[in-house]
Amino acid sequence: MVLSGKLVNSVLLLLLFLCYYTSSALFVPPDNYLIACGSSQNVTFQGRTFVSDSEHSSLALKTGNSSVARSNSTNVPSSIYRSARVFSGLASYKFKINEEGRHWIRLYFYPVRNSSWNLSSVPITVVTDEFVLLNNFSFKGYNGSYLFKEYAVNVTSDVLTLTLIPSNNSVVFVNAIEVVSIPDTLIPDQALALNPSAPFSGLSQLAFETVYRLNTGGPFLTGQNDTLARTWENDSKYLHVNSSVLVVTVNPSSIKYTSSVTAETAPNMVYATADTMGDPSVPNANFNVTWVLPVDPNFRYFVRVHFCDIVSQSLNTLVFNLYVNDDLALGSVDLSTLTNGLKVPYYKDFISNVSGDSGILTVSVGPDSQADITNATMNGLEVLKISNDAKSLSGDSSVKSLVPGSGSDKNKKAIIFGSVVGAIAAVLCIGLCYYCCLAARKSSKTPQEGHPWLPLPLYGLSQTLTKSTASHKSATASCISLASSHLGRCFMFQEILDATNKFDESSLLGVGGFGRVYKGTLDDGTKVAVKRGNPRSEQGLAEFRTEIEMLSKLRHRHLVSLIGYCDERSEMILVYEYMANGPLRSHLYGTDLPPLSWKQRLEICIGAARGLHYLHTGAAQSIIHRDVKTTNILLDENFVAKVADFGLSKTGPSLDQTHVSTAVKGSFGYLDPEYFRRQQLTEKSDVYSFGVVLMEVLCCRPALNPVLPREQVNIAEWAMTWQKKGMLEQIMDSNLVGKVNQGSLKKFGETAEKCLSEHGVDRPSMGDVLWNLEYALQLEETSSALMEPEDNSTNHIPGIPLTPLEPFDNSMSIINGGHSGTEEDDDGEDAATSAVFSQLVNPRGR
Ligand SMILES: *[C@@H]1O[C@H](CO)[C@@H](O)[C@H](O)[C@H]1NC(C)=O
Ligand SMILES: *[C@@H]1O[C@H](CO)[C@@H](O)[C@H](O)[C@H]1NC(C)=O
Ligand SMILES: *[C@@H]1O[C@H](CO)[C@@H](O)[C@H](O)[C@H]1NC(C)=O
Repeated sequence: MVLSGKLVNSVLLLLLFLCYYTSSALFVPPDNYLIACGSSQNVTFQGRTFVSDSEHSSLALKTGNSSVARSNSTNVPSSIYRSARVFSGLASYKFKINEEGRHWIRLYFYPVRNSSWNLSSVPITVVTDEFVLLNNFSFKGYNGSYLFKEYAVNVTSDVLTLTLIPSNNSVVFVNAIEVVSIPDTLIPDQALALNPSAPFSGLSQLAFETVYRLNTGGPFLTGQNDTLARTWENDSKYLHVNSSVLVVTVNPSSIKYTSSVTAETAPNMVYATADTMGDPSVPNANFNVTWVLPVDPNFRYFVRVHFCDIVSQSLNTLVFNLYVNDDLALGSVDLSTLTNGLKVPYYKDFISNVSGDSGILTVSVGPDSQADITNATMNGLEVLKISNDAKSLSGDSSVKSLVPGSGSDKNKKAIIFGSVVGAIAAVLCIGLCYYCCLAARKSSKTPQEGHPWLPLPLYGLSQTLTKSTASHKSATASCISLASSHLGRCFMFQEILDATNKFDESSLLGVGGFGRVYKGTLDDGTKVAVKRGNPRSEQGLAEFRTEIEMLSKLRHRHLVSLIGYCDERSEMILVYEYMANGPLRSHLYGTDLPPLSWKQRLEICIGAARGLHYLHTGAAQSIIHRDVKTTNILLDENFVAKVADFGLSKTGPSLDQTHVSTAVKGSFGYLDPEYFRRQQLTEKSDVYSFGVVLMEVLCCRPALNPVLPREQVNIAEWAMTWQKKGMLEQIMDSNLVGKVNQGSLKKFGETAEKCLSEHGVDRPSMGDVLWNLEYALQLEETSSALMEPEDNSTNHIPGIPLTPLEPFDNSMSIINGGHSGTEEDDDGEDAATSAVFSQLVNPRGR
């Protein structure tokens, strides 16, 4: 009975299977390499068989400098991560390519525990013949996490080489590799670039890295649910807190694919679910549904939106707008007109920059005011990072600068190569390839990922200040004209070169869209931060001038001050006082720096509040900072806080106005909700952002952390619920627990609460905030004076052992591997498949 039941089931399954596969023309990839590195046997992962790299029929392994790390522990996130191949020198995997064109390159990394190496501290760099895929990534600080990366690279030769580069005296490893053909039609050569809106072509020459692939309103889909083995993640944790969505679902088989949109574009399970507006519990239906996606601001992104009208009962009853980063990408989208039917899928591609250095890309759908219909929908959303000018997807070093060029260490290289290419030929080929790379590429700079040490962006003023119409002058002429108006010291370019040791990369403090910031020493020994703008047009020079004029008017102990500038030879260089201890944020989380004491934190907040108070009230016309956040509060060698980055500053309302109307600028997580809604700027917007800073200082977590449960994502909202319950100490930094005067904490919490009031009128002025914080400091000082008589050093950093804080780096795709040691293997698998792109889950939190 049981047997026959099983039989019937299997026959049914088989029939279903056949039906499914005969109803759609299945894409068969001409190249399909699935390699389990260092494994002794084949590994089945998400329904596909990965063949051991030592047994692969078309790979031969030269074992000279490689070994394997394996683990039988049940804590390994999933089967594919059980083993790794470890190389002690430069190593290459070579794949024979049957059909040129775009290929997925998927890489799997997990620092398998073993007795020989500590793989979690090993820096990993991976390049193809042309592109840098991963540069200097290390698992340090990401305990129990694994890394999955997906790239799409157009391979235009008959061999693809993946080279793993160890850093000095270290090893490098990889757990699994996929090289699989992509249908030619999937990624186009052209897409619409936004802001300014213009067609962009040439994508086929660029490499992509998948950063987000969301099945909006739908479940997590593993590679098994997708003919191209892509993974689709549920979107809810990226929804903006103000987005209230109604999830709509239909039967997947009712989706009507067309000749241009097929199951390869996206599985029907993506089109069969959607986030829509129209939640009946929301009284005001006039809002946007917004996805907030943290990204690396130094790159451009390919954004693909998937739509399918599964909501409407009849044609032409769904019209909405699509925005990418507040830019209108599609206006009055009427899906019925575009697709000629309901439940017919549709997609559209865009290319977008990240606005400013916010590190946030937003995509919104919302009602079209002309259409009189308040609904909008989104079925799927893909965001792919586009390789930069250095042909890199990670940092700005090129392949050439990363692969040691000399042939002398060739013997040391462990090389695995396709059997089709003979052993000798392969070695020759690698040599030739490096030689070609060397010859083909210009020299490039050392790798340095963006450091948030950016006193102020050079070009950020374009929208916020009236542009000077001054035309481009010869270098000396403009130097004189600026110098004559008392704008600090005019440096000669040679002085700058000497100060920075010719812009030595080892003195790089940070990189941003505007250019680079270097540490320098003037001939009198003064340490400075030198900001060098990218060579730009006349426009840039005009803004540069405006910025110098604006900055030179602001002098205060708690504002980072401008020492001088250099505009010789069309250079645009600003010289600031050097802030030895960098941004406040790096003392709160994400680094190994020792935690700050409560007294230090109060003093820093007071310093920053003084700086802002001066901006609001000190100058002839009040100045609104507009981008108050912990990366814009810098600390000098004595931990004195100074406010930096007036790039978004705007002069406040004059007497006859109460606000300045302006496009919303600033950083997500810090944005005044009233400003966001009404786009009216007052000093109270800065007060709100400062309230967020106060909570961040107390709780040591980012203002916005989309990987946390929904109610915790936004620190302002989350901390306020605890503050209102009078239980703020429940969520404060564990380093502070038991070391804070209760009265002081209470005052601090109340002050932050008032700053975060919904309405600007209810918020205190910066002057009041300052007074309250000083009172909190007084309470703390009197109590600690009672307890420990000797502590009047303001710069004292207590030697509290550092507990690892959760790092938050939005450019990484890391997932918690469930390394708590108590979890079952099943849970590990779950964790492995539950969130694939761009989340960093706190290992302690699970
Ligand atoms: C591994 O899989 C390949 C291809 O699927 C097969 O040819 C080979 O025999 C398998 N090896 C082992 C050890 O199972
Ligand atoms: C890959 O690049 C080649 C050569 O530039 C080009 O002809 C081809 O169309 C590209 N393929 C894809 C899928 O972009
Ligand atoms: C939706 O967002 C766009 C871009 O930020 C904005 O212009 C528009 O007014 C918003 N619509 C609503 C209803 O808030």
